[in-house]
Amino acid sequence: MKKITIAIDGHSSCGKSTMAKALARDAGYIYVDSGAMYRAVTLFALRHGMFDETDRIDNVRLEEAMPGIQISFKLDPETRMPQTFLNGENVEEEIRTLKVSSHVSPIAALPFVRAALTRQQQEMGKEKGIVMDGRDIGTAVFPQAELKIFVTASTEVRARRRYDELKSKGQQVDLEEVRKNVEERDYIDTHRETAPLRQAEDAIVLDNSNMTIEEQHRWLLEQLQTRIEKD
Ligand code: CDP
Repeated sequence: MKKITIAIDGHSSCGKSTMAKALARDAGYIYVDSGAMYRAVTLFALRHGMFDETDRIDNVRLEEAMPGIQISFKLDPETRMPQTFLNGENVEEEIRTLKVSSHVSPIAALPFVRAALTRQQQEMGKEKGIVMDGRDIGTAVFPQAELKIFVTASTEVRARRRYDELKSKGQQVDLEEVRKNVEERDYIDTHRETAPLRQAEDAIVLDNSNMTIEEQHRWLLEQLQTRIEKD
């Protein structure tokens, strides 16, 4: 069957990666979490002291370092879950901490970071048969994607989901702090100049505030089926 490109964009913590992973698995497609790439660059910048006391970024040093930041994905042989590697090191857990979440959006707003990662993402999707989730996949990375989904849910629901996720991983977090981070990232992501988060004109909107994971998965498979039958 002909393979297409699927772009899933939307607000932070609305479960994009859960739905994108399940869709890729059932469709036999590759899954790429573009947010993990921005998170890996952020971790690199944090580790190399590129944020000052007021959290200003040393753009010059980061831009110089970009060619030496290699990000790749490998499947965990046991769980079959994709793991993010930064220069050969598995950083999957570390990039999901609140520390990285609270520094990622300013990093993702830097045009030279976006240019480098967008190029890599386009390379990964050259053969189609890919599900990529993020903020600008349907608008900037794959504007020609055959299926575009724009996901959202209420802030309360999203903060609660992220809080539960971090808790279940054993991280000490405060619900209010998580909610603030979700709101801050949404603000920066929608207001930046380069490739801001916005709904592509041809995207289908999904508000999953009141949907179970099963329900949204079925909905997505239906969208894929309908799209493929159209051709
Ligand atoms: O999963 P969650 O919604 O927490 O976010 P993520 O997909 O891991 O992305 C982390 C951050 O990276 C976002 O808040 C954006 O600032 C940035 N990002 C981006 O700018 N463009 C993308 N295509 C993906 C992520």
